[in-house]
Amino acid sequence: MRISTLKAKEIGQRLQDLYRFALLPWGWELLSWFCALGLLTAIFTIISRANGKPQEDWSFPITLNSLTATLSTIYRAVLVAIAAQIISQDKWIWFWKPSSPIRPLKHLQLFEDASRGMWGALTLMPVVARHSPSSLIATIIIIVSLATGPFVQQSIKTEFRESPLELGTASLPVAHLVNDPSSWFRTQFQPAVIWWDLEATTRGSLFSTLTNPHSNDSTILSSCITGNCTFPSWGLAQPEGRGTTHSSLGVCSSCVDVGSLVTQKNASTNATSQEDTYPTFYLPNEMKLARGYGGTWMAVGTGDLGWASKLMTPEAGVFPRWSFANVTVFTIAGDPDDNRYAAATCSLYPCLQSYVASVRDGRLSESLVDSTPLYPDLGQYNDTTGLETLIHKLYQMPYSDIPLAAIQSPCRVNDTIYTTSNMSKVVDGTNVRIYSPEHAPDYPSITAPKECVYRFHSFLFMLMQAVIQKNMDGSCTWDGQMGISFIECSDQWWLAPFWEQRQASVGTITDRFSAIAGAMTNQLRLGFGTRPEDKAQVLGTAIQTLPCTAIQWQWLLLPTVLLILETIVLFRMISRSWRFREEEMVWKSNILPLLYYPDRFAGTDGQSINYATHQTDASPMRRPFRTASEMEKSAAHIQVELRRGRRQGEDNITLRDLLP
Ligand SMILES: *[C@@H]1O[C@H](CO)[C@@H](O)[C@H](O)[C@H]1NC(C)=O
Ligand SMILES: *[C@@H]1O[C@H](CO)[C@@H](O)[C@H](O)[C@H]1NC(C)=O
Ligand SMILES: *[C@@H]1O[C@H](CO)[C@@H](O)[C@H](O)[C@H]1NC(C)=O
Ligand SMILES: *[C@@H]1O[C@H](CO)[C@@H](O)[C@H](O)[C@H]1NC(C)=O
Ligand SMILES: *[C@@H]1O[C@H](CO)[C@@H](O)[C@H](O)[C@H]1NC(C)=O
Ligand SMILES: *[C@@H]1O[C@H](CO)[C@@H](O)[C@H](O)[C@H]1NC(C)=O
Ligand SMILES: *[C@@H]1O[C@H](CO)[C@@H](O)[C@H](O)[C@H]1NC(C)=O
Ligand SMILES: *[C@@H]1O[C@H](CO)[C@@H](O)[C@H](O)[C@H]1NC(C)=O
Ligand SMILES: *[C@@H]1O[C@H](CO)[C@@H](O)[C@H](O)[C@H]1NC(C)=O
Repeated sequence: MRISTLKAKEIGQRLQDLYRFALLPWGWELLSWFCALGLLTAIFTIISRANGKPQEDWSFPITLNSLTATLSTIYRAVLVAIAAQIISQDKWIWFWKPSSPIRPLKHLQLFEDASRGMWGALTLMPVVARHSPSSLIATIIIIVSLATGPFVQQSIKTEFRESPLELGTASLPVAHLVNDPSSWFRTQFQPAVIWWDLEATTRGSLFSTLTNPHSNDSTILSSCITGNCTFPSWGLAQPEGRGTTHSSLGVCSSCVDVGSLVTQKNASTNATSQEDTYPTFYLPNEMKLARGYGGTWMAVGTGDLGWASKLMTPEAGVFPRWSFANVTVFTIAGDPDDNRYAAATCSLYPCLQSYVASVRDGRLSESLVDSTPLYPDLGQYNDTTGLETLIHKLYQMPYSDIPLAAIQSPCRVNDTIYTTSNMSKVVDGTNVRIYSPEHAPDYPSITAPKECVYRFHSFLFMLMQAVIQKNMDGSCTWDGQMGISFIECSDQWWLAPFWEQRQASVGTITDRFSAIAGAMTNQLRLGFGTRPEDKAQVLGTAIQTLPCTAIQWQWLLLPTVLLILETIVLFRMISRSWRFREEEMVWKSNILPLLYYPDRFAGTDGQSINYATHQTDASPMRRPFRTASEMEKSAAHIQVELRRGRRQGEDNITLRDLLP
C-alpha cells in the first residue's frame, strides 16, 4: 500500500518533470510540428481529391496550384522554424557534449548563423557532419526545404482524359422495318391488269445506287457532337474480340467466277465474215461475246442460274433464293491482242448485317461483322405443308403479310441482351417463322422481341427486283477509235463502269457489286422505303476530351521525408531534454545564458576564460572593441566547454566524469 503510494507519487513527479523540462520548453515547436503535419495532410487531401478530376470541376475561386503553393510555403516556413530551434539548442549541447567537449568558441557563432539562414546552415554542415546528426539533419532540412514548393507544384500535372457523356449524345441510322406503302403506287387501272410501280424518289434513290454507288448521296453520317463517339457493345465478343454494336437491314452481294464455263469458238483460218476473224466466247446461258466491229464486247444479263448450278457450292457462296437479281457480267478484258475475258455472276440480296462501329475525329468507322440473308416470315401462318405455294400466293400482294425477315442474335433491347436460346422469354414479343433452309423442314414458330426482328416488305422487294433486273441487262460494243477507256452501252450507259478501261476481272466486278450493295444498304438506312415513324437509330455516347488533374505522387516524397526527419530530430531533442533535465537546459535561441553563465564556459584547463583579453596575435589592441571578424578569428582559437549543471550534490562536474 505504502509502496504503491510512493510509486504513484514518484510517477506523478516524473510526469510533472516531463512536462516542465521537456514538453513545456518545446511547446512552440510541438505546436508547429502539429501545424506542419496538418499542412502536409491538407496538401495530400486536396491533391488526392483533385486527382483524376476534370479541371473544370474545381470550384474554388483560388486555383489548385495557388492553393497548394500557399500551403507549401507555410509548410516550409514551419519546418524551417522548428529546424532553427533545434540547431539553436544543439549549439548548447555541442559544448555540453561528452564525446568531444572542448570546442572552438567560434562554433557558437556558427550555430547561431545556421539557425538564421541557409548560408549559415551550409557553413555549419561540414562542422557538424560527423559529430552531431541532429544538427546535420536540421541544416539539411533548412537547405532542402527550399525545394518543397516546386516539388509540390511538380506533382500536379495536366492530362487529357476521355470522359463519356450520357447515352444518346451520338446516333447512327439503321434500317429496321422497310415497309412503307407510300413508296409504291398503282400506275394504271385497267379492268384486267393492275400495274404497280416504285414511287419516283424511291426509284431515283435505287437508280442512283446502281449508276453511282460511290456518290455522297449514299453516305451514312453519324451524329456525334464531339467528334469521338462509341456505341455500346452487345456483350458477346466476336472472334476478333470486338462486340457487335448494331445491326441493320441491308443489301449484300456475293459473286462467283463463271469463267470456267466459258466455251470458245476459234477463229476460222479462211475467215470470210468479220465475225469469224476473232474467236467468239459463250456462256451456257447463251450470253456471247464477239470481238470485232459492232460485236458484243461486254454483256450484262440477269436470270435464273440453273446453268451455273455446278459452281454454286457452299464454298463459292450459295446464292440465296430471295435475291433482287443474279447479274452476270461477261466482258472482253486485257490488251487487244490477247483473247482474255472476265465472267462473273453476282447476286444482290436483302440481308441483315451486324457491325462494329465507332467515330474517331468525326470519321465513322464501321466494319461488317456478320450478315444473314432474309427469308419469308410466315409469322401468322401455322400450316406445315404447302408453304411454298402459300408464299407465292401471298407475298406478291401489295399488302402482303409475309415479309422477308431475319432475327438478330445476340440482340440488345434497352439494357437486356437476348440470344436465340432465351428470346422467347420476352413478354410482349412478336411471332416469327422464318422460311429458310436452316429451319427446314418444320420452320418452327418462335417469339422474339420486336426490336430483334428485322423485316422487309415483300411487295417492295418485288418492285425493287423488277427495277434492278431491268437495269442490269444490256450489251456494249467497242472499237479502237473509242479509246481504251470508253465503251458504248447505248441506253444502259451505267453498265459502262464494268469495263474498267478494259482491265475488268472477277475482282473488279465483285468490287463494283459490293459498292452497289453498300450504297443500297446506306439508302435503306437513310430511310429508303421506311415509314417516318419506323425510322430506327442506334444510340451511342459522345466522348469529350477534358484536361484533368493527374498527380505524380513521387514528387510529394520530399516534403514527407522532410517531415519524418524533422519528427525524428525533434523527438530526439525532447527526449534528451528529459534525460538530462538536471544538467542541461532548453535555452534554444535565447542569448541570456551567455550573460547569466559566462563562467560556465571553461577552457581546456577547466578555468573560465577572459575572452576579451585573449590574445591570438602579438599586435596590441588600440580600440576598446574588436570587430566581429576579429572576435571570430580569436574565437576560432579558444577551446571551451560548457560545464554542466549540478548533479548528485557535487558543485560542478563535467559529463566526462559521469560517464564510464
Ligand atoms: C464526298 O465527300 C467527301 C468528303 O466529304 C469528298 O472528299 C468527296 O469529294 C465527295 N464526293 C463526291 C462525289 O461528291
Ligand atoms: C481453239 O484454239 C485453242 C488453242 O489456240 C485450243 O486450245 C482450243 O481447243 C480450240 N478450240 C476449239 C473449239 O477448236
Ligand atoms: C473454209 O470454210 C468452210 C466452211 O466454214 C470449210 O468448209 C472449208 O473447208 C474451209 N476451207 C479451208 C481451206 O479451210
Ligand atoms: C438467283 O439465284 C439463286 C440460286 O440459283 C436462285 O435461287 C434465285 O431464285 C435467283 N434469283 C433471281 C432473282 O433470279
Ligand atoms: C392454326 O391456327 C388456327 C387459328 O388461327 C387454328 O384454328 C388451327 O387449329 C391451327 N392449326 C394448327 C395445325 O395448329
Ligand atoms: C425499352 O424501353 C422503352 C422506353 O424506354 C420501352 O418503351 C420499351 O418497352 C422497352 N423495351 C423492352 C423490350 O423492354
Ligand atoms: C440471354 O442469354 C445471354 C447469354 O446466353 C445472357 O447474357 C442474357 O442476359 C440472357 N437474357 C435474358 C433476358 O435472360
Ligand atoms: C478524339 O480522339 C482522338 C484520338 O484518340 C484525339 O486525338 C482527339 O483529340 C479526340 N477529339 C476530341 C474532340 O475528343
Ligand atoms: C568547481 O567550480 C569551482 C568554481 O566555481 C572551482 O573552483 C572548482 O575547482 C570546480 N571543481 C571541479 C571539480 O572542477
